[in-house]
Amino acid sequence: MPKEQIIAEIKKLKKEKNVLILAHYYQDKDIQDLADFVGDSYNLSVKAAETSQDIILFCGVHFMAETAKILNPNKKVILPDTNAGCSLASSCTYEEFNAFKALHPNAVVVTYINCTADIKTLSDYICTSSNAVKIVNSIPLDKDIIFAPDKNLGAYVQKECNRPLILWNGTCIVHEAFSFQKVLNLYLENPNSKIIAHPESEAHILEMAHFIGSTSAMIQFMKTDNTKTYIIATEAGILHQLEKEIPHKKLIPAPIHEENTCACSECAFMKVNTLEKVLNCLKNEVPEIILDKETMDKARLPLQRMIELCKS
Ligand code: 13P
Ligand code: SF4
Repeated sequence: MPKEQIIAEIKKLKKEKNVLILAHYYQDKDIQDLADFVGDSYNLSVKAAETSQDIILFCGVHFMAETAKILNPNKKVILPDTNAGCSLASSCTYEEFNAFKALHPNAVVVTYINCTADIKTLSDYICTSSNAVKIVNSIPLDKDIIFAPDKNLGAYVQKECNRPLILWNGTCIVHEAFSFQKVLNLYLENPNSKIIAHPESEAHILEMAHFIGSTSAMIQFMKTDNTKTYIIATEAGILHQLEKEIPHKKLIPAPIHEENTCACSECAFMKVNTLEKVLNCLKNEVPEIILDKETMDKARLPLQRMIELCKS
Protein backbone atom coordinates (compact mmCIF):
# COMPACT_ATOMS: atom_id res chain seq x y z
CA MET A 1 0.00 0.00 0.00
CA PRO A 2 1.44 3.47 -0.80
CA LYS A 3 2.51 5.53 2.22
CA GLU A 4 -0.19 8.18 1.72
CA GLN A 5 -2.88 5.50 1.71
CA ILE A 6 -1.55 3.95 4.93
CA ILE A 7 -1.56 7.37 6.61
CA ALA A 8 -5.11 8.12 5.41
CA GLU A 9 -6.29 4.71 6.66
CA ILE A 10 -4.64 5.29 10.07
CA LYS A 11 -6.32 8.70 10.40
CA LYS A 12 -9.72 7.24 9.50
CA LEU A 13 -9.49 4.31 11.93
CA LYS A 14 -8.10 6.48 14.71
CA LYS A 15 -11.16 8.71 14.50
CA GLU A 16 -13.67 5.86 14.19
CA LYS A 17 -12.22 4.00 17.19
CA ASN A 18 -11.55 7.09 19.33
CA VAL A 19 -7.84 6.36 19.69
CA LEU A 20 -5.17 8.61 21.22
CA ILE A 21 -1.88 8.15 19.39
CA LEU A 22 1.17 9.01 21.48
CA ALA A 23 4.68 9.08 20.00
CA HIS A 24 8.13 9.54 21.50
CA TYR A 25 10.59 11.93 19.82
CA TYR A 26 12.68 8.92 18.75
CA GLN A 27 9.96 7.51 16.50
CA ASP A 28 10.19 7.62 12.73
CA LYS A 29 9.13 11.07 11.42
CA ASP A 30 6.00 9.79 9.65
CA ILE A 31 4.81 8.30 12.93
CA GLN A 32 5.57 11.53 14.81
CA ASP A 33 3.57 13.47 12.22
CA LEU A 34 0.39 11.45 12.65
CA ALA A 35 0.50 11.33 16.45
CA ASP A 36 -1.88 13.42 18.58
CA PHE A 37 1.01 14.19 20.89
CA VAL A 38 4.79 13.85 20.61
CA GLY A 39 6.83 14.15 23.78
CA ASP A 40 9.43 12.88 26.22
CA SER A 41 8.87 9.98 28.61
CA TYR A 42 7.42 12.18 31.34
CA ASN A 43 5.02 14.20 29.18
CA LEU A 44 3.81 11.04 27.43
CA SER A 45 3.07 9.37 30.78
CA VAL A 46 1.03 12.36 31.92
CA LYS A 47 -0.91 12.46 28.63
CA ALA A 48 -1.65 8.73 28.94
CA ALA A 49 -2.83 9.16 32.53
CA GLU A 50 -5.17 12.01 31.63
CA THR A 51 -6.82 10.83 28.44
CA SER A 52 -10.51 9.99 28.28
CA GLN A 53 -10.22 8.38 24.82
CA ASP A 54 -11.03 4.66 24.56
CA ILE A 55 -7.71 3.33 23.29
CA ILE A 56 -4.11 4.50 23.66
CA LEU A 57 -1.85 3.52 20.77
CA PHE A 58 1.66 3.99 22.12
CA CYS A 59 4.33 4.55 19.48
CA GLY A 60 7.39 4.13 21.61
CA VAL A 61 8.98 1.20 23.42
CA HIS A 62 7.39 -1.49 25.57
CA PHE A 63 8.08 0.04 29.02
CA MET A 64 6.37 3.26 27.88
CA ALA A 65 3.20 1.45 26.80
CA GLU A 66 3.25 -0.52 30.06
CA THR A 67 3.51 2.74 32.02
CA ALA A 68 0.50 4.12 30.13
CA LYS A 69 -1.50 1.01 31.07
CA ILE A 70 -0.48 1.25 34.73
CA LEU A 71 -1.50 4.91 34.88
CA ASN A 72 -4.77 4.44 33.04
CA PRO A 73 -5.72 0.77 33.68
CA ASN A 74 -9.25 0.97 32.31
CA LYS A 75 -8.05 1.90 28.83
CA LYS A 76 -6.94 -0.51 26.17
CA VAL A 77 -3.24 0.16 25.49
CA ILE A 78 -1.75 -1.15 22.27
CA LEU A 79 1.70 -0.80 20.73
CA PRO A 80 2.81 -1.54 17.17
CA ASP A 81 5.46 -4.15 18.04
CA THR A 82 6.23 -5.89 21.34
CA ASN A 83 9.86 -6.25 20.23
CA ALA A 84 10.31 -2.55 20.95
CA GLY A 85 12.51 -3.14 24.00
CA CYS A 86 15.15 -1.07 25.76
CA SER A 87 18.69 -1.98 26.83
CA LEU A 88 18.12 -0.32 30.19
CA ALA A 89 14.90 -2.21 30.93
CA SER A 90 16.44 -5.55 29.93
CA SER A 91 19.55 -4.95 32.07
CA CYS A 92 17.46 -5.12 35.23
CA THR A 93 15.55 -8.34 35.96
CA TYR A 94 13.18 -8.76 38.90
CA GLU A 95 15.24 -11.51 40.60
CA GLU A 96 18.56 -9.69 40.26
CA PHE A 97 17.16 -6.36 41.34
CA ASN A 98 15.39 -7.89 44.32
CA ALA A 99 18.70 -9.46 45.42
CA PHE A 100 20.47 -6.09 44.93
CA LYS A 101 17.82 -4.37 47.04
CA ALA A 102 18.30 -6.96 49.79
CA LEU A 103 21.96 -5.88 50.08
CA HIS A 104 20.76 -2.35 50.98
CA PRO A 105 17.59 -2.97 53.00
CA ASN A 106 17.24 0.61 54.28
CA ALA A 107 17.82 2.39 50.99
CA VAL A 108 15.11 4.37 49.21
CA VAL A 109 14.71 2.98 45.67
CA VAL A 110 14.56 5.53 42.85
CA THR A 111 14.08 3.87 39.49
CA TYR A 112 14.29 5.39 36.06
CA ILE A 113 11.03 4.91 34.15
CA ASN A 114 13.01 2.83 31.58
CA CYS A 115 12.30 -0.42 33.45
CA THR A 116 9.64 -3.13 33.46
CA ALA A 117 6.40 -3.00 35.46
CA ASP A 118 7.87 -5.67 37.79
CA ILE A 119 10.82 -3.43 38.64
CA LYS A 120 8.44 -0.55 39.24
CA THR A 121 6.72 -2.68 41.92
CA LEU A 122 10.07 -2.81 43.77
CA SER A 123 10.54 0.98 43.65
CA ASP A 124 9.71 3.85 46.00
CA TYR A 125 9.92 6.51 43.31
CA ILE A 126 10.01 6.45 39.53
CA CYS A 127 11.82 9.28 37.77
CA THR A 128 12.42 10.33 34.18
CA SER A 129 15.36 12.22 32.73
CA SER A 130 13.42 15.48 33.18
CA ASN A 131 12.88 15.13 36.93
CA ALA A 132 15.50 12.71 38.33
CA VAL A 133 17.41 15.50 40.09
CA LYS A 134 14.21 16.89 41.63
CA ILE A 135 13.10 13.45 42.87
CA VAL A 136 16.46 12.65 44.46
CA ASN A 137 16.65 16.12 46.03
CA SER A 138 13.25 15.51 47.66
CA ILE A 139 14.64 12.56 49.68
CA PRO A 140 16.11 13.40 53.12
CA LEU A 141 19.91 13.55 53.15
CA ASP A 142 20.25 10.87 55.84
CA LYS A 143 18.70 8.24 53.55
CA ASP A 144 20.74 5.93 51.30
CA ILE A 145 19.39 5.82 47.74
CA ILE A 146 19.52 3.04 45.18
CA PHE A 147 19.35 4.49 41.66
CA ALA A 148 18.60 2.08 38.80
CA PRO A 149 18.98 1.00 36.05
CA ASP A 150 20.98 3.74 34.24
CA LYS A 151 24.46 4.22 35.71
CA ASN A 152 25.17 7.21 33.45
CA LEU A 153 22.02 9.09 34.41
CA GLY A 154 22.73 8.00 38.01
CA ALA A 155 26.27 9.43 37.91
CA TYR A 156 24.89 12.69 36.51
CA VAL A 157 22.21 12.92 39.24
CA GLN A 158 24.81 12.06 41.89
CA LYS A 159 26.94 15.00 40.74
CA GLU A 160 24.01 17.44 40.44
CA CYS A 161 22.61 16.51 43.86
CA ASN A 162 26.04 16.27 45.45
CA ARG A 163 25.27 13.02 47.27
CA PRO A 164 26.29 9.40 46.71
CA LEU A 165 23.88 6.99 45.06
CA ILE A 166 24.03 3.21 44.96
CA LEU A 167 24.05 2.61 41.21
CA TRP A 168 22.78 -0.32 39.14
CA ASN A 169 25.07 -1.13 36.23
CA GLY A 170 22.80 -0.53 33.22
CA THR A 171 23.33 1.68 30.17
CA CYS A 172 21.48 2.94 27.13
CA ILE A 173 23.20 1.47 24.09
CA VAL A 174 22.22 4.52 22.05
CA HIS A 175 23.62 7.18 24.36
CA GLU A 176 26.80 5.33 25.27
CA ALA A 177 27.71 5.13 21.57
CA PHE A 178 28.85 8.75 21.18
CA SER A 179 32.54 9.20 20.46
CA PHE A 180 34.28 11.73 22.72
CA GLN A 181 37.02 12.36 20.14
CA LYS A 182 34.63 12.80 17.20
CA VAL A 183 32.32 15.12 19.18
CA LEU A 184 35.33 17.14 20.30
CA ASN A 185 36.69 17.38 16.73
CA LEU A 186 33.28 18.51 15.50
CA TYR A 187 33.15 21.17 18.19
CA LEU A 188 36.64 22.42 17.26
CA GLU A 189 35.47 22.68 13.64
CA ASN A 190 32.38 24.62 14.83
CA PRO A 191 33.72 26.74 17.69
CA ASN A 192 30.58 28.89 17.90
CA SER A 193 28.31 25.87 18.36
CA LYS A 194 26.91 24.43 21.57
CA ILE A 195 26.93 20.76 22.56
CA ILE A 196 23.53 19.60 23.83
CA ALA A 197 23.40 16.20 25.54
CA HIS A 198 20.89 13.81 27.06
CA PRO A 199 21.83 12.71 30.61
CA GLU A 200 21.88 9.03 29.55
CA SER A 201 25.18 9.91 27.81
CA GLU A 202 28.54 9.01 29.34
CA ALA A 203 30.25 11.42 31.75
CA HIS A 204 32.94 12.51 29.24
CA ILE A 205 30.22 13.67 26.83
CA LEU A 206 28.25 15.41 29.60
CA GLU A 207 31.41 17.21 30.78
CA MET A 208 31.76 18.77 27.32
CA ALA A 209 28.07 19.71 27.05
CA HIS A 210 26.77 23.29 27.29
CA PHE A 211 23.28 22.01 28.10
CA ILE A 212 22.05 18.69 29.55
CA GLY A 213 18.38 17.71 29.64
CA SER A 214 15.58 15.38 28.61
CA THR A 215 14.49 15.36 24.96
CA SER A 216 11.76 17.96 25.66
CA ALA A 217 14.16 20.11 27.69
CA MET A 218 16.75 19.95 24.89
CA ILE A 219 14.17 21.15 22.34
CA GLN A 220 12.99 23.92 24.65
CA PHE A 221 16.56 25.08 25.22
CA MET A 222 17.44 25.19 21.52
CA LYS A 223 14.22 27.10 20.75
CA THR A 224 14.98 29.86 23.22
CA ASP A 225 18.79 30.01 23.12
CA ASN A 226 20.35 32.32 20.53
CA THR A 227 23.18 30.09 19.30
CA LYS A 228 22.94 29.15 15.61
CA THR A 229 24.63 25.73 15.54
CA TYR A 230 24.12 22.75 17.85
CA ILE A 231 25.84 19.39 18.16
CA ILE A 232 23.14 17.11 19.52
CA ALA A 233 23.98 14.04 21.60
CA THR A 234 20.77 12.05 21.64
CA GLU A 235 18.81 9.74 19.34
CA ALA A 236 18.50 11.16 15.81
CA GLY A 237 14.67 11.09 15.81
CA ILE A 238 14.67 14.35 17.79
CA LEU A 239 15.96 16.16 14.69
CA HIS A 240 12.55 15.93 13.04
CA GLN A 241 10.79 18.20 15.56
CA LEU A 242 13.81 20.49 15.70
CA GLU A 243 13.82 20.91 11.92
CA LYS A 244 10.18 21.99 12.18
CA GLU A 245 10.62 24.25 15.22
CA ILE A 246 13.97 25.89 14.44
CA PRO A 247 14.50 25.48 10.66
CA HIS A 248 16.93 28.42 10.55
CA LYS A 249 19.44 26.73 12.89
CA LYS A 250 22.18 24.25 11.97
CA LEU A 251 21.68 20.90 13.71
CA ILE A 252 24.53 18.41 13.75
CA PRO A 253 23.89 14.94 15.22
CA ALA A 254 26.73 13.91 17.54
CA PRO A 255 28.81 11.17 15.86
CA ILE A 256 29.22 7.69 17.28
CA HIS A 257 32.28 5.40 17.54
CA GLU A 258 31.18 3.12 14.72
CA GLU A 259 30.67 4.14 11.14
CA ASN A 260 27.04 3.91 9.98
CA THR A 261 25.04 5.47 7.19
CA CYS A 262 23.99 8.61 9.04
CA ALA A 263 27.01 8.65 11.47
CA CYS A 264 24.44 9.37 14.18
CA SER A 265 22.91 7.28 16.94
CA GLU A 266 19.61 5.53 16.29
CA CYS A 267 17.61 3.36 18.70
CA ALA A 268 16.87 0.11 16.87
CA PHE A 269 14.16 -0.66 19.45
CA MET A 270 12.28 2.56 18.73
CA LYS A 271 12.67 2.02 15.01
CA VAL A 272 10.96 -1.42 14.94
CA ASN A 273 7.69 0.53 14.83
CA THR A 274 6.64 1.24 11.25
CA LEU A 275 3.60 2.86 9.61
CA GLU A 276 2.42 -0.60 8.46
CA LYS A 277 2.60 -1.92 12.03
CA VAL A 278 0.74 1.14 13.33
CA LEU A 279 -2.04 0.44 10.84
CA ASN A 280 -2.23 -3.28 11.73
CA CYS A 281 -2.25 -2.44 15.40
CA LEU A 282 -5.15 -0.02 14.92
CA LYS A 283 -7.10 -2.49 12.79
CA ASN A 284 -6.71 -5.54 15.04
CA GLU A 285 -6.16 -3.80 18.40
CA VAL A 286 -3.16 -6.03 19.12
CA PRO A 287 -0.55 -6.36 20.52
CA GLU A 288 -2.24 -5.21 23.71
CA ILE A 289 -0.56 -4.55 27.06
CA ILE A 290 -1.97 -6.99 29.61
CA LEU A 291 -0.87 -6.73 33.24
CA ASP A 292 -2.37 -8.20 36.39
CA LYS A 293 -4.14 -5.85 38.79
CA GLU A 294 -1.75 -6.47 41.68
CA THR A 295 1.31 -5.55 39.58
CA MET A 296 -0.41 -2.43 38.26
CA ASP A 297 -1.55 -1.30 41.70
CA LYS A 298 1.95 -1.69 43.16
CA ALA A 299 3.71 -0.15 40.16
CA ARG A 300 1.36 2.85 40.12
CA LEU A 301 2.42 4.10 43.57
CA PRO A 302 6.00 5.17 42.69
CA LEU A 303 4.73 6.63 39.41
CA GLN A 304 2.11 8.69 41.22
CA ARG A 305 4.73 9.89 43.71
CA MET A 306 6.76 11.22 40.77
CA ILE A 307 3.76 12.94 39.18
CA GLU A 308 2.76 14.52 42.51
CA LEU A 309 6.29 15.81 43.14
CA CYS A 310 6.48 17.27 39.64
CA LYS A 311 3.27 19.26 40.15
CA SER A 312 4.93 21.36 42.85
P1 13P B 1 13.32 11.16 27.69
O1 13P B 1 12.11 10.84 26.90
O2 13P B 1 13.01 11.32 29.14
O3 13P B 1 14.08 12.31 27.16
O4 13P B 1 14.27 9.86 27.61
C1 13P B 1 14.83 9.47 26.43
C2 13P B 1 14.87 8.01 26.25
O5 13P B 1 15.88 7.42 26.04
C3 13P B 1 13.63 7.30 26.28
O6 13P B 1 13.86 5.96 26.11
FE1 SF4 C 1 16.18 2.44 25.74
FE2 SF4 C 1 18.16 4.00 24.93
FE3 SF4 C 1 16.37 3.17 23.15
FE4 SF4 C 1 15.66 4.99 25.02
S1 SF4 C 1 17.14 5.26 23.40
S2 SF4 C 1 14.52 3.15 24.42
S3 SF4 C 1 16.93 4.31 26.75
S4 SF4 C 1 17.81 1.85 24.32
